[in-house]
Amino acid sequence: MTRTLKELFEAERPEASSPPAPALVTNEKCTEQGDLTEQSSASEYLEGSPAGLKELSVNEAGTEDSLMSDLQLQNASVSESESMMLSKCDSDSLGNEGSRREKSPDNFIEFDTSKLDKKAADSSKKESSERQSYSSAEKTPTEREDSKEKAEPAKVNEPCGKIPAEKHTALKTCPSVGTSLESFDFKDNSSSNIGESVTMVEEAWERLKKSTVFFKGNPVGTLAAMDPTAESLNYNQVFVRDFVPSGLAYLMKEDDNQPEIVRNFLLKTLHLQGWEKRIDNFTLGEGVMPASFKVLFDTHQKETLVADFGGSAIGRVAPVDSGFWWIILLRSYIKSTGDHTLAELPEVQRGMKLILNLCLSDGFDTFPTLLCADGCSMIDRRMGIYGYPIEIQALFYFALRCARQMLKPERDGKELLERIDKRIKALSFHIQKYYWLDNTQLNNIYRYKTEEYSHTAVNKFNVIPESIPDWVFDFMPLRGGYLIGNVSPARMDFRWFLIGNCIAIVSSLVTPVQATAIMDMFEERWEDLIGEMPLKITYPALEGHEWRTVTGFDPKNTRWSYHNGGSWPALIWLLTAACIKTGRPQIAKRAIDLVEQRLSKDGWPEYYDGKTGRYIGKQARKYQTWSISGYLVAKMLIENPSNLRLLLISLEEDKKIAKPRLKRSTSF
Ligand code: GLC
Repeated sequence: MTRTLKELFEAERPEASSPPAPALVTNEKCTEQGDLTEQSSASEYLEGSPAGLKELSVNEAGTEDSLMSDLQLQNASVSESESMMLSKCDSDSLGNEGSRREKSPDNFIEFDTSKLDKKAADSSKKESSERQSYSSAEKTPTEREDSKEKAEPAKVNEPCGKIPAEKHTALKTCPSVGTSLESFDFKDNSSSNIGESVTMVEEAWERLKKSTVFFKGNPVGTLAAMDPTAESLNYNQVFVRDFVPSGLAYLMKEDDNQPEIVRNFLLKTLHLQGWEKRIDNFTLGEGVMPASFKVLFDTHQKETLVADFGGSAIGRVAPVDSGFWWIILLRSYIKSTGDHTLAELPEVQRGMKLILNLCLSDGFDTFPTLLCADGCSMIDRRMGIYGYPIEIQALFYFALRCARQMLKPERDGKELLERIDKRIKALSFHIQKYYWLDNTQLNNIYRYKTEEYSHTAVNKFNVIPESIPDWVFDFMPLRGGYLIGNVSPARMDFRWFLIGNCIAIVSSLVTPVQATAIMDMFEERWEDLIGEMPLKITYPALEGHEWRTVTGFDPKNTRWSYHNGGSWPALIWLLTAACIKTGRPQIAKRAIDLVEQRLSKDGWPEYYDGKTGRYIGKQARKYQTWSISGYLVAKMLIENPSNLRLLLISLEEDKKIAKPRLKRSTSF
């Protein structure tokens, strides 16, 4: 049966008392527990490819030229071939993007490694002689005294039959020890794990497919984890943020491309957004997207969806990041498939507006940044990220840029677009100026005067220099810089957060110069930020008294574990995207190499513990889906950099939104 998208969406509505289009239905009830059950009609999804698939024009020569000159000026160290790749990968507005189905080889230049082959061969010899073996002397990663219901998947989520449970293979020497980035074998044909990597990719695809969640016979997402040995708690759910790399993997896959799962996911979560969301007697904003959802079967095998908007989450915090990730993935889907009809649906337009209205409404704010509660994003436990955390600000900016391309100016749309433009401008100014830290800026803050009144104040937020933690002075290299974790009155959280920094690069929230400096940071602080298993979610860990007061004695977030300085391989795709955008793929390649040495053998854990990420996380789930899909996306990005177009916001567009010019810092 073939139906139009509109009909399809109509079928998504509950049977009872559907209001007239375009409004989404919001008549479902909350149960006593705060759970929400869906009463959708029998037929759910269109079979086959979406209706009205639109092919797009692709050539953006002007954009590419100006982008080239921008980046080549800023990043003199980028090799010619890398720059070409970078410029060809950066993209213009959504409307000018080509469908991936169109397969237009002229649009993107494949990464040419031929010039590097000789260098790579020479350097790999040198490198192998420099590698040292692991020391077994490192202490256990966390303090000893510190210390989600079995997956009830819909239909096919049985344990991976063909896949060996856990391989016990000796570790290889660690390339992060005594290896210089310059000598890194970029092409890596000589690497002994090339065969393993192919098998690992195959295994990853098989595992990713097994994690598929079906609703009424249609794929709607992927389970967070499929660990047969651990209590599933809420890991048997589809998390919105976790699904992003899974969705991207399906959108990037060349053969057997399956965008339906992404489309179904987008529509399903949009439908869930339409529910009335109540926690105790308080109703959440209309635009809030779920953190996660799951499919439940009653005794008659009738399927219903149950969603969590924070009401069941640790700390009862709504996921601020979910709506942003939803908008970002929607745009990636459209860029991949060319299916503009999806974004043009009144329901989808409304969903985007509701998300943005939550963030753009007038209030008491004096900053363009978004005020958040602790635990409202990937770090979904108390970790001192309340206030204006960089992860949310970067995602907010990215979502604004994506929505800007997809929102139609009809009716109230024009006014919303104007508000978006203003916010984009103010937000990028604020982040680039006040979140940026490099050696020069650190020295400025160190010498700040306090108690300055009036708008001429240099120390605008009255940060007391004594509040700068000692570790920052050692951590900050002469070459490099990064966006700090949080800025608010008298408070600068100097910690490094990976997601915010990488998203800031991919979305062009930071200037090209700042993006280069962030990549320098990875090189300069490799041991701290990448170590033996990529990637540190935050650096450094909170310890002792600080851990007690900031986390509230959280036994899961002990030092160098989980969100508190733990290492998350799932984030490898974000690093890879940032590396390709900045023309530094060798950094990503080296990190992927580390992942390939252990991740599959260790059973695809959720996270690793320890200062260098040597130990499988204390409470880490195995067969964590985004560890699997994050790896696949990283591989598809590095092997075919043109895949980055699904994520990029072009610098060309930046010029359209006039921005204040920042001076180049003297430290890089
Ligand atoms: C953990 C993570 C969260 C993730 C969830 C499912 O709670 O902190 O970010 O979405 O697991 O994997």
